[in-house]
Amino acid sequence: MTAEWLKNAVFYEIYPQSFCDSNADGIGDIPGIISKLDYIRELGCDSIWMNPCFDSPFVDAGYDVRDYYKAAERYGTNEDLKRLFAAAHEKGMHVILDLVAGHTSSECEWFRKSCLPEKNEYTDRYIWTDTVWVAPQNIGNIRGWLRGGYDRDGSAAVNFFTAQPALNYGFAVKDEGCPWEQDMHDPGPMSTRAELKKIMKFWLDMGCDGFRVDMAGSLVKNDPDGKGTIALWQDFRRWLDEEYPEAVLVSEWGEADKALTAGFHMDFVLHFGPSHYPELFRTAHPYFSAKAEGDIRPFFDVYLNNLKKTEGMDGVISIPSGNHDMDRMARTLTPSEMKIAFAFLMSMPGVPFVYYGDELGMREVEGLSSVEGGYYRTGARSPMQWDCTSNAGFSAASPDCLYIPQDREMMHVINAEAEMADPASLYHTVKELIALRKVHPALQSTAGFRLIEDTYPLVYERSCEEETILVVINVSDEEKQTAQDTSGSLLWSFDHKALTGNTLPPQSAFIIRKG
Ligand code: NOJ
Repeated sequence: MTAEWLKNAVFYEIYPQSFCDSNADGIGDIPGIISKLDYIRELGCDSIWMNPCFDSPFVDAGYDVRDYYKAAERYGTNEDLKRLFAAAHEKGMHVILDLVAGHTSSECEWFRKSCLPEKNEYTDRYIWTDTVWVAPQNIGNIRGWLRGGYDRDGSAAVNFFTAQPALNYGFAVKDEGCPWEQDMHDPGPMSTRAELKKIMKFWLDMGCDGFRVDMAGSLVKNDPDGKGTIALWQDFRRWLDEEYPEAVLVSEWGEADKALTAGFHMDFVLHFGPSHYPELFRTAHPYFSAKAEGDIRPFFDVYLNNLKKTEGMDGVISIPSGNHDMDRMARTLTPSEMKIAFAFLMSMPGVPFVYYGDELGMREVEGLSSVEGGYYRTGARSPMQWDCTSNAGFSAASPDCLYIPQDREMMHVINAEAEMADPASLYHTVKELIALRKVHPALQSTAGFRLIEDTYPLVYERSCEEETILVVINVSDEEKQTAQDTSGSLLWSFDHKALTGNTLPPQSAFIIRKG
């Protein structure tokens, strides 16, 4: 991999609103994050993905950026971000920011100017039809139109929620009946491209280590095979390789062959689309349940196909424990099941991502009203549970002032302090597994993968020049047999269970070095 540090990286995702509040206003902030770097480092994670932290009206939790060059006041200042990068680097850690490349907030100055009837620098920064009476349906990567309310006679394309107008990177395939559709290389799209580079440069110069790119695969419109968007990102990657060769890009794309061809260093397995990822931890019958009623084969069909298609490419597929857009895994899995799930996550190829609080088994907070465009996602975004003090150590504000309510029922049991003190906790399992991954090259991002058994049990091999490791997982609450020779040196087993021959005890997982 070009960016050497990714070979052995383990990421921790921080939702800045909910991580640590240093000034008692009920919402997390950058100084709070700086104060918790040692916690993340001690867990074993050496890299951080931080959700958007830029100036925003927060209609979509910050995925509606008003000013890309300014930290949101509620989180701190640009100087605080600079301090975060420097403090992380001092501890041998990396920090990547969330780059919302496909749309801005409708409150962004660029959009306001783009809405003016007089031609100006921002007229073509967004996608506009040539009259407000036109708002065509079914154009690939366009989700709707903003119409009326502006003096400019046109409809503006929407990228996600209606407060998020789509930036103009042009159309891959233009419809002759729509003369307002612009070519990717027209001046408008090229200036959007230049601005995005400027934004990346601004933060990279400040010390950030790269970006997670929001909706990365949908920037160019009417792009049926993704070729336009791929070409666009190849341009960004060429530029990065020249100017910032250590910087990394991870995509929310979900089609690894396209994303890696486009130049991303990592592409996420997503919880939507064709991945079958939810079937691992989150459906009514997830694979990682002791009831053993799940089926992991559809997941592997897609995963293996992607692995094959990306063989030899300079990039990897990342499987997250969760993220700010999906239910907490604790909603469907018990603590033991989560421990076994982490044995899987930490022994698979690619760069693993731990969603804050998943290492503790933080639960979904049920029954919440939507906060800042969270809707069903709000319950997975509740404040981090640090200790047994008020607000579980997240904030010194009054509990009813918290930005999102906490898991009041369990926060005195499920929290970092309590779990760090208990060697049998999920926290310790995750920590052990990360530590194991760090010292075994065969468990790391780019080492080989071979699936051997894919029902109950799940058996696979990881290998590299130095070693071969067998991972044997029986999440079911019944004894199972494996056809594999399980001899070798046992590096780790769930609950310190012993392994004899081919019989796998109920709820067990083993990581064995073969040679
Ligand atoms: C994906 C982000 O993860 C999600 O939180 C956001 O709402 C949409 N993209 C729109 O930016």
